[in-house]
Amino acid sequence: SNSLYSMLDVHSPANGVQQIQLHRPEALNALTTAMLGELALALEEAEANESVKVVVLTGSARVFAAGADVKEMAERDMVGILKDPRQQSWQSISRFPKPLVAAINGYCLGGGCELAMHADILIAGTDAKFGQPEINLGIMPGAGGTQRLVRAVGKSLAMQMVLTGQPINALQAKEAGLISEITQPELTLTRAMEVASQIAKKSPLALRLAKESILKGMDTDLNTGLRFERHAFTVLAGTKDREEGIAAFLEKRPAKFTGQ
Ligand code: HXC
Repeated sequence: SNSLYSMLDVHSPANGVQQIQLHRPEALNALTTAMLGELALALEEAEANESVKVVVLTGSARVFAAGADVKEMAERDMVGILKDPRQQSWQSISRFPKPLVAAINGYCLGGGCELAMHADILIAGTDAKFGQPEINLGIMPGAGGTQRLVRAVGKSLAMQMVLTGQPINALQAKEAGLISEITQPELTLTRAMEVASQIAKKSPLALRLAKESILKGMDTDLNTGLRFERHAFTVLAGTKDREEGIAAFLEKRPAKFTGQ
């Protein structure tokens, strides 16, 4: 792991998968501005590193992240929040173009839940709790919790979570579509790594455009989304990876993608 980071454990990539672990155990991984900045930087490095195909983001066995750091947030007034440097980190995390898988155990609250919703695939242990408790502090979600949550779970449950501050459990999160799989808590990371390894074998170009196409579609009307998909699909027709993928299928062998 890399000592540039004091609140993250950034592993060396193995077989295309890089694990990034949130590590601020004394405060249940509450996200300080510096920690969020480290995460944005780690993802920028992961983007630039060709040996990283997929990132798995995780917390500890007990907590993914218990929110923004409330003590730090308390020191910021209105103008301070207007000029908040966190915004840049969130932007940068949201633009990460490679697949991002979150492995979630325990508390996933407030800014922690908003962070998890930046992942493309969420896998959680049976003990996970997802919530937006900001309302209890007299504030509201401010990093996508009123926007990404409603897209993930629908209006009624999003309203209930945001207005009551009550968390939901993993089963409810699965039913609502916030996460794609539930595992035994001790297997969450293993399962996320397994899914990431499958993804890491695919063409990075196809992965990138498929991810972009899905995200674009969530953000626009159907026709615009379909046109984006058609353009992306057309672009992929010009890649060596497509030639290789089709040749490998016809020759009944595994494809070896190079990202060309
Ligand atoms: C700062 C936090 C923290 C947080 C926990 N801690 N959550 N510090 N910010 N969000 C610290 C506690 O102060 C405590 O430190 C230590 O972590 C352990 O927490 P406990 O509360 O003792 O643990 P436990 O009793 O097990 O309760 C766990 C918990 C509770 C239910 C998760 O900690 C909790 O409710 N946390 C706050 C959750 C929350 O409101 N999140 C939303 C934050 S607002 P000490 O030093 O006392 O041992 C937000 C805004 C997003 O996220 C907007 C984005 C811009």
